[in-house]
Order: sequence, then C-alpha cells, then structure tokens
Amino acid sequence: MTRQVEVLPDVAGIVNRALALILERAEAAIAQRGTFSIALSGGSTPKPLYEAIAQQPLPWDKIQVFWGDERYVPPDHPDSNEGMARRAWLDHVPIPAANIHPMDTTPADPTVAADLYEQHLQQVFQLAPGDFPSLDVVLLGIGDDGHTASLFPHTKALTVGDRLITVGNKDDQPRITFTAPLINHARCVIFLVAGANKRPALTQIFAPEGDADTYPARLIQPAGELWWLLDQAASIPVP
Ligand code: 6PG
Repeated sequence: MTRQVEVLPDVAGIVNRALALILERAEAAIAQRGTFSIALSGGSTPKPLYEAIAQQPLPWDKIQVFWGDERYVPPDHPDSNEGMARRAWLDHVPIPAANIHPMDTTPADPTVAADLYEQHLQQVFQLAPGDFPSLDVVLLGIGDDGHTASLFPHTKALTVGDRLITVGNKDDQPRITFTAPLINHARCVIFLVAGANKRPALTQIFAPEGDADTYPARLIQPAGELWWLLDQAASIPVP
C-alpha cells in the first residue's frame, strides 16, 4: 500500500485532483483490460466530482459504475446515493443502463439486498465463491465519527471478512455496504475529505496506533494505491 496524502486549497481543488486521478486510471484500465470499474461514495462531498466527470468525453460503454454503500431508501429518496449520482452525473451521459449497478434496496430484509448485490458482483466479475474483485477505483469519504462507506463504529459490519457486501447500521438504520476486505482489494482507493469537522477523526485515523472499531476508516489499507485528498480545513500534520 502506498498512502499518498495531498492537501488542496478547497473542495474545488479536491474535485480537480480526484478527477485527474480517475481519468488517468480510467485510461490505463481501458487500455489494459478494455474496461474501467469505479465504486461511488455517497454524502455531499463527491457531488461536484460527479458533476465534473459528467463533462468528460469518456468511452462510456467501457465504464462500469457501482456504489460502495447505499442508504436503505428508494432511489428517488433525497438520501439515496444512487439518486444523487444519477442527478449529478449518470443521467447526463450516454452510459449504457447495463453499466450502472445500483444496490437494490427494495427487499424487505436488508440482508437479502446485501446477498443480491454480492451475487451481482460475483456475476459481473465472474468470481468463484470466496474470491474478491479488484475494482479499479473506490471512492470514499469519512464521517465526523471516522466511519467510511457504511462501516460505522462498533458495528458488526466491521468484523465481516469473508463477504463482499454486508449490512451496515447507522443509528439503527440499515445500510448496504462494501466490506473492508472488498475495499482493500481495490487497485486504487481515493478518500475525499473536506471540512474542519473531519479533523478530529482524521487525527485518529492517521495516528500510528488506534482503534479501528472506533475509527473504521483505519481498516482501509488497500494493497494498491491509497489517496487521501484533503482540503486545507480538514488537513492535519501527517504523522
Ligand atoms: C454515505 C457515504 C459516507 C460518506 C461520509 C462523508 O452514504 O453517507 O458513503 O460514508 O462518504 O459520511 O459524507 P460527506 O461527504 O457528506 O461529509
């Protein structure tokens, strides 16, 4: 794992840098393997990045879009990560519908939804049971509490090591999420972190010693590239 921490002046700086990293990796992946896979994060920070990606003249038929986590709401709900990415990006580009892989949140039981998405990934990546796919890029954020994707502090999801997808839990609200091992199999993980409110969690996440059960983003130690793109407000002295 190569951890690269870059401090950008503001969110626009984070967006421009993340866009450059994504475009470079998309070009390389498509040249090498004919396809580029990216998992999207939710929340508010990535929205301008999705709007910027939508402006790019990309070979959309070669791009596969997944979500790293999803709130357990329908796509037309204001909290939906799928809805946000479609409004900001996917509705504005000629990407084949089959290349968009949202997490289905219609099953009454979220564990069924998690199993279905895991089976979908196994099919798309033609995986043998127990294998983990290496997505080209996984985008992540962190919450003030140090969570990432929907891996929240002191939840069972943090201990799931043999699945691709599991059920996260925020304040007793179910989420569907990539597991830490699935994220860690990515070729490139990019964290987008903006705002002074993230600084205390970031201090704990970057500390040489710490408790991943309390600060789950500490679990993200990919074998591939690990980028932390911080704005000035979120930045801390890196130990
Ligand atoms: C989600 C995200 C979550 C997000 C962080 C940061 O579904 O909410 O995947 O992990 O990345 O909560 O969110 P902001 O970018 O809004 O601060």
